[in-house]
Amino acid sequence: MLNEKLVAAINDQIQFEYYSAFVYKAMQAYFEDEDLPGMANWMNIQFQEEMAHAEKMFNFVCDAGARVELKALDAPNNEYSSPLEVFEESLSHERQVTARINNLMDLAQQEKNHAAQIFLQWFVTEQVEEEASVNLIITKLKRIKDDGRGLMMIDQELASRTFTPIAAE
Ligand code: FEO
Repeated sequence: MLNEKLVAAINDQIQFEYYSAFVYKAMQAYFEDEDLPGMANWMNIQFQEEMAHAEKMFNFVCDAGARVELKALDAPNNEYSSPLEVFEESLSHERQVTARINNLMDLAQQEKNHAAQIFLQWFVTEQVEEEASVNLIITKLKRIKDDGRGLMMIDQELASRTFTPIAAE
């Protein structure tokens, strides 16, 4: 059901989703160290979401009778100078993911693989939400500038984020 090109490209994205999880775990570590537990929580949920994205793709490749191959992960960035910098890096990371998902969709269309296109549609929609939620946080952080009370309020708000497992299809 998946040709070699698609298996290789999806394997590559599985790797990138695990790398994304790693990136967000490093961001969580920064916020834990900064005593911003709400932002740390938000990053931990993001970590879980990335693991779920990788898992969803992993299962798709296995269900198609193809082989998943994992490689070593690059080290994520561990150095940040402000919450705004972290969320800006998150947005730039998500834009990279969106471009990669769009490329995957292009390939699935070129290969006329309808099952892969339907499968990837979920990720196309998910990326719109991923970018929007980070964008909103960046807007709020820019609005408060260096106001400590504002930062604590955003931190409290992000503490309420919970992980929702991806619904089984
Ligand atoms: Fe798996 Fe944040 O994209």
